Amino acid sequence: MPGTLASNYPSWKKLQQIYDTERNQLVLKELFASDPSRFSKFHREYSSPAGSPPVSILYDFSKNLITEPILATLLSLIREAGVESERDAMFSGKHINTSEGRAVLHTALRNPGVQIAEEGVSEVGPVLEHMKEFATQIRSGAWKGYSGKRITAIVNIGIGGSDLGPVMVTEALKSYSQRDIACHFVSNIDGTHLAEALRVCEPESTLFIIASKTFTTQETITNATSARDWFLETAKDKAHVAKHFVALSTNTKGVTEFGISEANMFQFWDWVGGRYSLWSAIGLSIMISLGPENFSELLLGAKAMDEHFKSAPLENNLPVLLAAVGLWYNDFYGAQTNVLLPYDQYMWKFADYFQQGDMESNGKFITKSGQRVDYQTGPIIWGTSGTNAQHSFYQLIHQGTKLIPADFLAPIETQNPISHGKHHEILLSNFFAQPEALAFGKTEEEVRADLGPALSKNEALVKAKVFEGNRPTNSIMFQKLTPATLGSLIALYEHKIFTQGVVWGINSFDQMGVELGKVLAKSILAQLPDASKVTGHDSSTTGLIHHYQKNRK
Ligand code: F6P
Repeated sequence: MPGTLASNYPSWKKLQQIYDTERNQLVLKELFASDPSRFSKFHREYSSPAGSPPVSILYDFSKNLITEPILATLLSLIREAGVESERDAMFSGKHINTSEGRAVLHTALRNPGVQIAEEGVSEVGPVLEHMKEFATQIRSGAWKGYSGKRITAIVNIGIGGSDLGPVMVTEALKSYSQRDIACHFVSNIDGTHLAEALRVCEPESTLFIIASKTFTTQETITNATSARDWFLETAKDKAHVAKHFVALSTNTKGVTEFGISEANMFQFWDWVGGRYSLWSAIGLSIMISLGPENFSELLLGAKAMDEHFKSAPLENNLPVLLAAVGLWYNDFYGAQTNVLLPYDQYMWKFADYFQQGDMESNGKFITKSGQRVDYQTGPIIWGTSGTNAQHSFYQLIHQGTKLIPADFLAPIETQNPISHGKHHEILLSNFFAQPEALAFGKTEEEVRADLGPALSKNEALVKAKVFEGNRPTNSIMFQKLTPATLGSLIALYEHKIFTQGVVWGINSFDQMGVELGKVLAKSILAQLPDASKVTGHDSSTTGLIHHYQKNRK
């Protein structure tokens, strides 16, 4: 039952018992040695259905500290938690975001034909058409700036979900982009972010996309106002704003009050969570950069993964399996984090994107029914692209004192086969080698054999070179990072997050935890001009504010 404490489920108790009694026997080296068919048992292949753009994904979870009974018990837990009925409730538009009384229908954005009358889902198609028409005009040069020049730069101003998705996807699919339109993303309230973007833009040929679901976010509205001031310094006439500013929002009143006409507004709805909004009008910058067809493929790739999540038996269901394995480490092994390691430079922002996607969704300690959990919920998500990461933080993953479950992702085909594919073969050899090294390590005997008798006398050196191994990984291989494949991978992780959130009994679709800091910052802002006004804070905060006031120039 969604909202129940997960620790009350019979399968949870069984998993705890298995962990307590069997964890010392869960040694990857032995599990592989005793079962030559381990890979066959613990991998799944996903292919998109006929009629969808081709996507194939191989998910290998054999290098995890699991056995068949453990996997079966994890899947029982997922069943007991009611993931299937909650999933169906989500897709059918039930208000599963209970604290905000909202439906959760980002899946409807990638399935524009779906009928959920009461939520206004029928408007998805017309908005998508509006986006296509506009993006095509920008890309072809038919849309002219106020002085008759074509648009050669777009600046998306937004933050959180109104920034991270567009940034990640435009980076990941850069090889499909129209290169004569530069894409800039400004999110930070730090004026440096906007100033650096504007340095390389011309007012006459720049389009500003103001992306904000609420159209009240302080950072976005402040940056948008400054961008408009910068534009008007050259354009002078406010009437020219119409050619250079568009808005992506659910808040028509806020948009028109800002000075952007409704005709230049691309609507979405309160059933699209910010961190699930790249599929909506928030994806306009993506569509301009990649073109409407590639944007449609991105949606179709996600839609195909939605169908898989809805219909595949749990034993073969990729998001469910990914969630199951993650639950095992998070809740029984006490792992604090999950590192995402794409071996594809284009995906270097993938982990940043899922920091919000996962941590804003599942970073909660209260269940839907208001109880405090007595177990761990959302993991800390981090990571960057390999092989760069190998030369920064892998040392700790291999030989540190923490257990860090890792997801490795890689394409079979590169977008840039330079030097006859040699770069890619080197990249992939690392993608294969790292999970192997993490799983099987290097024993003291192997170290001594490598060092030879003389150096082996140095006991400290021998010990330092031992890799204990038994460090778990997922390996996810896909054919090529096409728009449809990226859509499928994003939806895969979205549904993994959903599945884990249901098991933990929390609401993955609100974000109450970001409010307190915002409120405090507003009250402090009013106190900054005058030292005598600084009241109501602890001595540390007061001391810091006073230090700033004394030293500002
Ligand atoms: O700060 C949290 C948050 O509400 C995110 O959930 C959201 O993606 C971001 O702020 C931006 O909000 P908006 O799109 O309304 O400007």
